[in-house]
Amino acid sequence: MEVKETTIEEALKVHAKIEELRETKAEKEAFEPRYQNRKHVIFVAYEEKEPIGYLIAYDPENGENCFYCWMAGVEKAYRKRGALTKMMQSLENWMKENGYTKMTIKTRNNKREMLSYLVHHGFDFTQVEKRENQKENRIYLEKEINKGEI
Ligand SMILES: CC(C)(COP(=O)(O)OP(=O)(O)OC[C@H]1O[C@@H](n2cnc3c(N)ncnc32)[C@H](O)[C@@H]1OP(=O)(O)O)[C@@H](O)C(=O)NCCC(=O)NCCS
Repeated sequence: MEVKETTIEEALKVHAKIEELRETKAEKEAFEPRYQNRKHVIFVAYEEKEPIGYLIAYDPENGENCFYCWMAGVEKAYRKRGALTKMMQSLENWMKENGYTKMTIKTRNNKREMLSYLVHHGFDFTQVEKRENQKENRIYLEKEINKGEI
């Protein structure tokens, strides 16, 4: 498996195949307004040259040392093989090279695999935003990115 920094077009090829993320249309217009005027980065994971996972992150505050991991997903058939872990490592390395010291992320109670990843990889819970359906509650997490450690 290989992870590359790439374009929204490559990420959308993967996004279109991820059922759980259907809420956001697989169209550039649904994605670009979020990050196009901010520093951002897009990673895609490839298995035998096929894009199978993607991650999009951006600077929400322009220069406050904090980077927000906005979207991440891996095609169902390729899960539990370390694709998310490898993309997150690429993001952490990129953040260190670009002077960011904190990663934030928002997920939901019904995204159990993501919550599991975040708990296992050093993120702290900081806030819960309640929704009518508790499974849809937004869960906010963050992690300090140490300069010396990958
Ligand atoms: C969340 C998601 C991206 C994980 O991708 P992945 O490539 O399968 O993750 P990895 O193989 O790198 O797994 C890393 C860790 O995540 C956790 N994890 C992933 N899948 C899990 C599962 N089914 N059950 C429990 N823990 C899981 C584990 O801690 C795992 O570490 P381990 O393999 O040492 O146990 C993937 O399940 C997905 O796309 N889900 C649907 C979309 C989604 O929820 N996106 C996040 C929106 S915020």
